[in-house]
Amino acid sequence: MFRFLTAGESHGPGLTAIVDGVPAGISISAKDINVELKRRQGGFGRGGRMDIESDAAEILGGVREGMTIGSPVSILIRNKDYKNWQDRMSVEATGKKPEPITTPRPGHADMAGYLKYGFDDIRNVIERASARETAARTAVGAVAKKMLTIFDIRLASNVLSIGDVKTESVINDMEDAKIINGSQVRCINEKASKRMVEAIKKAKEEGDTLGGVFEIVVFGLPPGLGSYTQWDMRLDSRLAGAVMSIPAIKGVAIGDGFAVSEKKGSQVHDEMSLTRDKRIKRTTNRAGGLEGGVTNGEPVRVTAAMKPIPTLKKPLHTVDVKSTKEALALKERSDVCAVPSAAVVGEAVVAIEVAKAFLEKFGGDSIKEIERNLSSYKEGM
Ligand SMILES: Cc1cc2nc3c(=O)[nH]c(=O)nc-3n(C[C@H](O)[C@H](O)[C@H](O)COP(=O)(O)O)c2cc1C
Repeated sequence: MFRFLTAGESHGPGLTAIVDGVPAGISISAKDINVELKRRQGGFGRGGRMDIESDAAEILGGVREGMTIGSPVSILIRNKDYKNWQDRMSVEATGKKPEPITTPRPGHADMAGYLKYGFDDIRNVIERASARETAARTAVGAVAKKMLTIFDIRLASNVLSIGDVKTESVINDMEDAKIINGSQVRCINEKASKRMVEAIKKAKEEGDTLGGVFEIVVFGLPPGLGSYTQWDMRLDSRLAGAVMSIPAIKGVAIGDGFAVSEKKGSQVHDEMSLTRDKRIKRTTNRAGGLEGGVTNGEPVRVTAAMKPIPTLKKPLHTVDVKSTKEALALKERSDVCAVPSAAVVGEAVVAIEVAKAFLEKFGGDSIKEIERNLSSYKEGM
């Protein structure tokens, strides 16, 4: 079973991930992971932290001579900023209690975490609730992607809106990924990209923040991943849960999502017909590649809505939990818009869920064994 955990604080010494159930025989290097980490760090609208960090993974276990060996893969990403935070984030007791944070930001985990754990310093919440954790998940996603690539399964993401700037242009094939990677906001439509950049600049000037919508598309999936036989085996629900676990994601849709509710069945379902060589084909993919929680052989398409970043340069009203007086929320170095970055994290979490479902269906201890299982399944189709 492909599974993982992450640990680490935003301004602590670093982030770690242990990935278990990685089959033997995947070629992987720190460089492969770093490509994904760099993509996560990019995108117009990120804050000053990104100028300090240039995330680099160190693989500490599970890989020998560039190949996975079936043992757990252990990954470390050091926080370069830690050197500036040792007075506040020392792991060892210093005897000097750092000044506590007592002004929770509306929209962040600050207040909920403060109440849950009974802390007197909201810093304890901020540090782990921070989306910095998604760097570790992006690294895990890079491992999943490396495995999926062996089987020609590939992922792409595209930003569909930032604030009120929208585009109808969606991903059609993996060629589109090249154009998207060249956009400052990971958007396939050049005109919309420019308008999105302007919207972010304006929000920044106003001390405000922006959210948006992005899509993730997975190409090359065989039919039969996931299952309708139990609620927790449905791949649609597992993908939705994974994407919703990205901080600030407030809506997830599969295929045409909410839009299908307004239409008639004849306008929604993907009809089947035969090609000249008697293969079954679909003329549309409104279901987003999933029927009954199972892949149907069409590309899987997941869309996600991200709320605006909670830390505002022009802070919102809050209450100081120490003095119980009205106050302004914590102002910390922050992103203005992180939708392009969240889209890259989206690719990672979708890759992880797809890799899990793929291994459930074709699983083996080594890539060779999985190849055999997959080809015998394909022969029987
Ligand atoms: C890639 C990424 C970057 C983010 N950057 C920030 C940030 O700089 N400042 C901030 O306040 N929130 C940021 N967020 C959002 C918060 O992490 C998130 O709102 C918070 O953890 C509370 O979780 P919730 O919004 O899901 O309730 C970011 C989210 C993502 C996915």
